[in-house]
Amino acid sequence: MSIATNDNLGSDFDRGKSGSGVIEVERKSDWDALNRSPFTFRHHLEHHPLFAIPRLVNIAESAVEKRGPRNVYVPDDPELKNLPWKQRLPEAVRRIEGGSLWLKISQLQELHSDYRDLLQDILAQMEDFSGLPLRRTVTWAGLTVFIASPNVVTPYHFDHDTNFLFQIRGEKDVYLFDRSVVLEQEIEHFYAGDLMAGKFREGMIDKSGVFHLAPGTAVHHPPLAPHLIKNADNVSISLSMFYADRFLDERARTYQANYCMRRLGLRPRPPGQDPFRDRLKSAAINIFSKSHPKTQDDILYSGIRRVLSPRRGANRIVKRALHGAG
Ligand SMILES: [Fe+2]
Repeated sequence: MSIATNDNLGSDFDRGKSGSGVIEVERKSDWDALNRSPFTFRHHLEHHPLFAIPRLVNIAESAVEKRGPRNVYVPDDPELKNLPWKQRLPEAVRRIEGGSLWLKISQLQELHSDYRDLLQDILAQMEDFSGLPLRRTVTWAGLTVFIASPNVVTPYHFDHDTNFLFQIRGEKDVYLFDRSVVLEQEIEHFYAGDLMAGKFREGMIDKSGVFHLAPGTAVHHPPLAPHLIKNADNVSISLSMFYADRFLDERARTYQANYCMRRLGLRPRPPGQDPFRDRLKSAAINIFSKSHPKTQDDILYSGIRRVLSPRRGANRIVKRALHGAG
């Protein structure tokens, strides 16, 4: 199997607009497990023109030209690093087949309106299946594509968002762990900025479910549910579609307040035990969050960064506000 580069870009970009009907649903009741436990479903992105490698390389190149490299992750390889972006991406793609590397293009919906339309179509379908008014309640939703070499392993970690991993090309095994294996302090550290705060411990693999993904299949995993992904002996293209809502964001800020309190030597209660205290803690962090966030990072981390910054007095104010909020 060979990987095409952008030598042969198609001219049919608009064909990618047909997003409605992306997800196939055999039983709507499967979606009752949304945000509680994993489930799989079928989709129609397998041959979608928006996920052909030449097109993805093209979109990544124009993103780098217009916005700098913030939406594109290419491995920190010294040889690749010395190449101009125009050569670096096709070269990285060429190496994927024989090497051990992966590429990521984030926030596709910001890079071209076709991806934004696709995201809206997927959200509309999910609203229909779940009965939840997602397009009204989400604070952030996005599409990120991963292109990976054969046998690449994505290490154990968890994410903030509700997530759906759509397999487009190649096969992989997704090990999904129950949320209960995560320690409260790991979540607090995650929301304080350590994105790999979840630690894989001996014996935990027995507490995972394994979902085999092939082109045309997808798996949902709930927020904060850890996962570990093993690519099969093939090049893989996967799409991660994710969203967060106000509930998840407020809970994140409660964890951030708990992180601060634990640093003060206190033993805060986990979110969910006392809604009033949770709101108080979340509000204390929110005071320092950017009032007009432009990115998901702004929504989630601008407040805690200001609180933890030694140059600001915010730390002292939050300390005073949270004392006794246990
Ligand atoms: Fe993840």
